[in-house]
Amino acid sequence: MARMVIRPDVEALPGYHFTAHDHPVKLDQNESAWDLPEPLRSEALSRLARAPLHRYPQLYAERVRAAIAAREDWPELGVVVAGGSNVLIQATVIAAGLGRRVLCVTPSFSVYGIQARLMAADLRQVPLGEGFALPRAALLEELAEGEGVHFLAAPMAPTGNPVAVEDVTALAQAGAGRWLTVVDEAYGAFAGSDFRAAAREVPGTLSLRTLSKAYGLAGVRLGYALTAPALAQQLQKVVLPFSVSALQASLVETVLEAPAFVDERIALVRSERERLHAALRSRAGVEVFPSVTNFLLLRVADAEATYRGLSDQGVLVRRQDHLPGLAGCLRVSVGRPEENDAFMAALDACSLAPEGVRHANA
Ligand SMILES: Cc1ncc(COP(=O)(O)O)c(C=O)c1O
Repeated sequence: MARMVIRPDVEALPGYHFTAHDHPVKLDQNESAWDLPEPLRSEALSRLARAPLHRYPQLYAERVRAAIAAREDWPELGVVVAGGSNVLIQATVIAAGLGRRVLCVTPSFSVYGIQARLMAADLRQVPLGEGFALPRAALLEELAEGEGVHFLAAPMAPTGNPVAVEDVTALAQAGAGRWLTVVDEAYGAFAGSDFRAAAREVPGTLSLRTLSKAYGLAGVRLGYALTAPALAQQLQKVVLPFSVSALQASLVETVLEAPAFVDERIALVRSERERLHAALRSRAGVEVFPSVTNFLLLRVADAEATYRGLSDQGVLVRRQDHLPGLAGCLRVSVGRPEENDAFMAALDACSLAPEGVRHANA
């Protein structure tokens, strides 16, 4: 029956794959380990209690947009807000990739490829180089012809390594005029990186950001794009009207009025990331890769067995071993200190078959 009504492109797709588990130590989704601080939560809830729920919210979340513009030092009309940066990934594919090309590296954030396929775009995936290096020359070659959307996660995901500003600028410039360059800065706060200059200076470039990671608001769903007002105006046509609810807006407005807690958490994530990295590096049978994000990618001899071993002890991580170039890899989010300790203790209890696995940074 479905075969008759659904486009074959959609039928052929497996869809975004994620199975939720209820483990005491949850380090599988690169979320923040800390929920909203209590005074802010109460303030948000009382604002929520006053929100007129029988009315439509603001058309394009204008108050949220203004708060983001002020925080990011960006022209208000150049900010596009949606219910998660995922929604904006889809919007950019609709606006600039439908019937054209979508370019990204592989492995990369899976939503780029899924949305490209859903929109029947011509998906071009360029493998990462040695040590997950950005394949700049091959990307430049792809950008030399055609038109569409180029997604570049900076820092990269799921590998966690940084991307140089000069590489991003060169790629954006190479695509200018034909390609929409989306610099996905989901994990940028943990790296201390900032690609707003490219979005400001290179036509057709957009910085994509989210409140799901450093702000710890994954459950609220709020992402935004920073770009030139003329481009934002076009993108805004693709984002459905009234799509940021009064509930999302109340919460986000409250948080953006008092965002000081975010910087403290970023500092804590960074120091825990380095502690975890050092612990993993000294562990026989584990190859851990450098990361500037809130997660670490590690390689073990048998990813499935280690995943199960951790899971049996109540620790949830994410398998990445199905991805090209990531055989044996698992991804672990940086959690609270006690969660990271629990992860290391559980890993120590797993049999890791050390032979043949070298250290990334030895
Ligand atoms: C690279 C990257 N971009 C975007 C997202 C999606 O973020 P959001 O929660 O804003 O949809 C994620 C989520 O994990 C991500 O890893």
